[in-house]
Amino acid sequence: MQFWRTQVRLQVVLNYSIVLILCITEMIITLINIIEQLAPRLQHFHTQPELGCNGHIELCNRSFSNITQIASHDSAFVGILPMDNQNLEITHQLGSGVRFLQAQTHLDGLGQLSLCHTDCGMKDSGTVQDFLVTITNWLDKHPQEVVTLLLTNGDYTNLSHFSEAFTASRASEYAYIPLPTHNTSILSSWPTLNQLIASGKRLVTFLDSGASPSVPYILNEFDYFWETPFDTTDPTFPQCTISRPGKLHAYPDVAAERMIIMNHFLDTEVLGMDLPDRRDARKTNAVSGVGSLGAQARLCGEVHGRAPVGLLVDYVDQGEGIRAQDLLNGF
Ligand SMILES: *[C@@H]1O[C@H](CO)[C@@H](O)[C@H](O)[C@H]1NC(C)=O
Ligand SMILES: *[C@@H]1O[C@H](CO)[C@@H](O)[C@H](O)[C@H]1NC(C)=O
Ligand SMILES: *[C@@H]1O[C@H](CO)[C@@H](O)[C@H](O)[C@H]1NC(C)=O
Ligand SMILES: *[C@@H]1O[C@H](CO)[C@@H](O)[C@H](O)[C@H]1NC(C)=O
Repeated sequence: MQFWRTQVRLQVVLNYSIVLILCITEMIITLINIIEQLAPRLQHFHTQPELGCNGHIELCNRSFSNITQIASHDSAFVGILPMDNQNLEITHQLGSGVRFLQAQTHLDGLGQLSLCHTDCGMKDSGTVQDFLVTITNWLDKHPQEVVTLLLTNGDYTNLSHFSEAFTASRASEYAYIPLPTHNTSILSSWPTLNQLIASGKRLVTFLDSGASPSVPYILNEFDYFWETPFDTTDPTFPQCTISRPGKLHAYPDVAAERMIIMNHFLDTEVLGMDLPDRRDARKTNAVSGVGSLGAQARLCGEVHGRAPVGLLVDYVDQGEGIRAQDLLNGF
């Protein structure tokens, strides 16, 4: 009997030990993952010298609609949790050469327009006004730079929430209002970066729904763009097709005069939830290889005769986003 008890105790101790070892191994793997995430940001991501327009003399005389920009998808959801899409804070993203920021908005419990992931209970990255203050402060210090914003209006809220945040943050002073010569039906009627910089209107803002001419500097995204499919879990990104606006397929002449947003962020399914695929980010955001950022952008060029204007990615500091952008711009 005594012997049997000792046996059971030994077995229990052994089982606990195995569980403990598994837990420690899992923790070590997690730590390695985090370190892996941090290390390449220093190696692969270069701060650009501020020459010319958005870092390049060659871009100064190019129309806004003829420039490819790497874009940070869900730019405000910064962190190391599974739902976080980015590693770098907004100022650091801008400092690293990213000039196109996409951000999701919702109303928080107090009715403030905030940067929330699906719901403010899940992830709340602060108010839109604070986000705009960060961008405005950065624009103040960088007079040769043009920043593009793509906001989504997750709660279909009144445009006045947006205009209040733009006014309070002074972002409205930088915000581009289409010139009289700007015709949404003609892609090339976009001003050049030089013209935007000279006019001081260096913040180009789009909203996916709820825009109206009553706030002329918040442009209706789908008057200017179409987008490829998003939330894909297929790592090969085998298409460059029009997903939104849905009916645009039927109007190829209209589609030909819209800029292209290529959604190149990969999701992975975990317990029935789509989460950003952090582990494969470097492969997803590479210049070449099956399913890479470069490969899908080149596919867009082949199918539509022009490169995408926005390349939306998660973990913009991973991989070779800036390199892919520069290659598409011809340098
Ligand atoms: C841009 O165009 C202007 C006017 O045509 C010209 O004077 C200027 O030299 C050009 N700048 C560059 C960098 O090509
Ligand atoms: C800009 O124009 C060049 C020459 O037509 C073209 O190859 C390139 O794809 C265009 N890029 C964009 C973003 O429109
Ligand atoms: C949105 O807000 C504006 C200004 O406060 C107001 O005039 C307008 O009626 C509102 N629209 C809706 C649909 O609530
Ligand atoms: C914009 O361009 C289109 C196509 O050339 C033309 O039909 C339309 O009248 C123009 N709109 C304005 C406001 O000039």
